[in-house]
Amino acid sequence: MTTESVSARELVYRRLQPNAHVPDLETYKRMHRESVENPEGFWGEIAKGFYWNTPPTGAILDYNFDVTKGKVYVNFMKGATTNICYNLLDRKKQESDWEEKIAYYWEGNEPHDCSTITYSQLLKEVCKFANVLRSLGVQRGDRVAIYLPVIPEMIYSMLACARIGAVHSVVFAGFSAESLCDRILDSQCMLLVTADGFYRGEKLIQLKQIADDALEKCKRKKGFVMKKCIVVHHLGNKLRSGQEQAHCKVLPLLCNPDIDVCWDVLMKGASEQCEPEWVDAEHPLFILYTSGSTGKPKGVLHTVAGYLIYTAISFKYVFDYHADDVYWCTADIGWITGHSYVIYGPLTNGATSIIFEGLLVYPHMGRLYEMIEKYKVTKLYTAPTVIRMLMKFGEEPVRKFNLKSLKILGCAGEPINPEAWTWYYNVIGDGQCPIMDTFWQTETGGPMITPLPAAIPLKPGSATFPFFGVLPAILNEHGEELQGEAEGYLVFKQPWPSILRTIYGDDERFEMTYFKQFPGFYLTGDRCRRDGDGYYWITGRIDDMLNVSGHLLSSTEVESALAEHSAVAEVAVVSHPHPVKGECVYCFVTLKDGMELTQSISDELKNKVREKIGPIATPDFIQNAPGLPKTRSGKIMRRILRHIACNEKELGDISTLIDPAVVEVLFSQRCQAAA
Ligand code: WTA
Repeated sequence: MTTESVSARELVYRRLQPNAHVPDLETYKRMHRESVENPEGFWGEIAKGFYWNTPPTGAILDYNFDVTKGKVYVNFMKGATTNICYNLLDRKKQESDWEEKIAYYWEGNEPHDCSTITYSQLLKEVCKFANVLRSLGVQRGDRVAIYLPVIPEMIYSMLACARIGAVHSVVFAGFSAESLCDRILDSQCMLLVTADGFYRGEKLIQLKQIADDALEKCKRKKGFVMKKCIVVHHLGNKLRSGQEQAHCKVLPLLCNPDIDVCWDVLMKGASEQCEPEWVDAEHPLFILYTSGSTGKPKGVLHTVAGYLIYTAISFKYVFDYHADDVYWCTADIGWITGHSYVIYGPLTNGATSIIFEGLLVYPHMGRLYEMIEKYKVTKLYTAPTVIRMLMKFGEEPVRKFNLKSLKILGCAGEPINPEAWTWYYNVIGDGQCPIMDTFWQTETGGPMITPLPAAIPLKPGSATFPFFGVLPAILNEHGEELQGEAEGYLVFKQPWPSILRTIYGDDERFEMTYFKQFPGFYLTGDRCRRDGDGYYWITGRIDDMLNVSGHLLSSTEVESALAEHSAVAEVAVVSHPHPVKGECVYCFVTLKDGMELTQSISDELKNKVREKIGPIATPDFIQNAPGLPKTRSGKIMRRILRHIACNEKELGDISTLIDPAVVEVLFSQRCQAAA
């Protein structure tokens, strides 16, 4: 880093400081100290800014993190009752600009397809749909599955659930029928909200057809009944070619008359008034599935009050939110970043955001920049994989648009390499906008380690310091806490309000995954280094998880999809570095005797993964493996396979292998296209 660039960055801070919620490092340090030393006082004070139908009766934060002392639990604002939807929408009705303030600019796949939603319209639509849900028998605590593209109905559905105390379980629209079915069954959803279909770039996704396949699979599970499937008629007459229209006629929208109902028909008669359900602070708000290292996705459960407060204040401080901002988080609502920073965080702050259905490089690679110019976006939150994809197209598309409105940039989902960081900073931010590299997880609800725009000097590639209420530690493999400069397991020593409360239906797995290995600590599953200045650097996962374009996948999940193919005897999956996706999927496949890994088997294997999990998990490389490196106890050593995939000959200790000769064979049969 040159002195010149440091001083240029200094200037960026100074410009933001006079107006910032956290104006300097000293203020950050003071607030952070208070938040971890006196969480009761800190969160108690912040909670005063929200609406409680009844106040808390006990401690603000009550918990046990130590499995050796009993069940792990976290209670926040115990005894209070509230409604999160009321806090987001009704609470601010008396503000002068509430009626006409824009909550969302929605833009579809095609640039001319756009609309705006004001806060008052949003409340009306949410109330109407909440009444629809009630009329269909949905009650507090019931689970509702939502499988939609990024369209306003997605937001109406989620908030309508929250309004009546039902629990939403959003399934990303890129997941397969099988994945949707697993998720519906796991949390026993009584109702599904989906749409006819949507375009991603040129590609038509027939969502209803996938949903129907999923429900067909669900039916095979004895005793399971899906009560209703509500279908949004989103594509309508947008279908392009005659062929596609004909196809859709063959598959009518409401083809299961006993459960399918049309969104528009239901909404037509619904009232715009809907009394919110007052629920306990610890009432479940939503379930969101994330990959787990056993292969079975985990239904991460978040509860009302803690999630409300943490997403609200993290949005305010991390993006230094002000009333005139136009904020754009490019994440799909189907992921945690979308839940927290497209919906709950921005709405609680009364922000104006963009929601975007399409692809950032369609119909041209400057779409992101075009939209920044069009809406005069001030705060942009995206993912490292997006930056790396845009880098490939160079600076020219950027230069065609005016991005001067931008003030603060953010990214999340995976480590950002310094090269991508620098490009984001210099080319998109024109050297004028600090980058908030926010480290967090589906389980944490909001950023754990993150810069604050005017307060924390940046180091490219470091998520910098802990957010308020967060007390990180680095442990060695014996569970001893390391001080000062160190590298090891990243853990948190005490709860923050939006920590997951359990894995839906599986408290034991919850304790096993996050609390068993190091009693008294929440285990993130990430490795981390703390440098001499106290900055945290996330260095990757410690388990067998893959992070493809910011999405966590478990190697076991991909392996079991591949193992279903009749030609496969055994399989092992590892991550391989990828210039755009960060990591991609590299598979070692042992075929049954007499079988040969032909191109067509390879294609079938890739299709298996797409069908079982979804297109994001599609393998980039499939290598023939006459044998796999195993320990004497039969455990596959994925560490060695990772080295082979990358052609790294330094393998370290391989003495525990039962058949070390297999390593040479695997090296000789590597996929040549892999770097
Ligand atoms: C990784 C996404 C480095 C990490 C919000 C974590 C990151 C996992 C960062 C959670 C970051 C997320 N720097 N790594 N800024 N943000 N990760 O649940 O491995 O989809 O455990 O939540 O992504 O992914 P998840």
